[in-house]
Amino acid sequence: MNDKMLKALNDQIREELSSAYLYLAMAADFEDKNLPGAAAWMSQQAQEEVAHAMKIYGYINDKGGKAVFDALPKPQESWNSMLDAFKAAYKHEQYITDCINKLVKQAREVDDTSTEIFLQWFVTEQVEEEKSTDEVVQKLQMIGDSKNGLFMIDRELGGRGAGSGSE
Ligand SMILES: [Fe+2]
Ligand SMILES: [Fe+2]
Repeated sequence: MNDKMLKALNDQIREELSSAYLYLAMAADFEDKNLPGAAAWMSQQAQEEVAHAMKIYGYINDKGGKAVFDALPKPQESWNSMLDAFKAAYKHEQYITDCINKLVKQAREVDDTSTEIFLQWFVTEQVEEEKSTDEVVQKLQMIGDSKNGLFMIDRELGGRGAGSGSE
């Protein structure tokens, strides 16, 4: 694999693990604030980000490259509200989309078709990632300062991945 392409994919492993770190920090903050549903949602999101990192790790190995790991930035520890945290998560996903788009561009520049095709999964995934975080932002904006609304949204978020069939 092209050296620069390999470096860029390794950088993306770091971005994905850094996303996991961020979402785990959000989960911990929600736990601390007695919002178990939002905590479970973010904790699952963190696991998905680790899976994204592993996907790239596997691809690098398949291509005969070597994965190398850079230091992860320390995530923020606390957010003012659930809305603030989800807004930050949405913004972060937009940033990740940007990273993925740059990777695709780079794969095209070095005429690396297999990497370009590999990255398609991430392009599609980012549409879902932006949508799911923005949906929560919209709901939280709708309820405003309602404690009752917050309680209900937290319960709803806790149902994610529990096989409730709601998604
Ligand atoms: Fe990701
Ligand atoms: Fe993500």
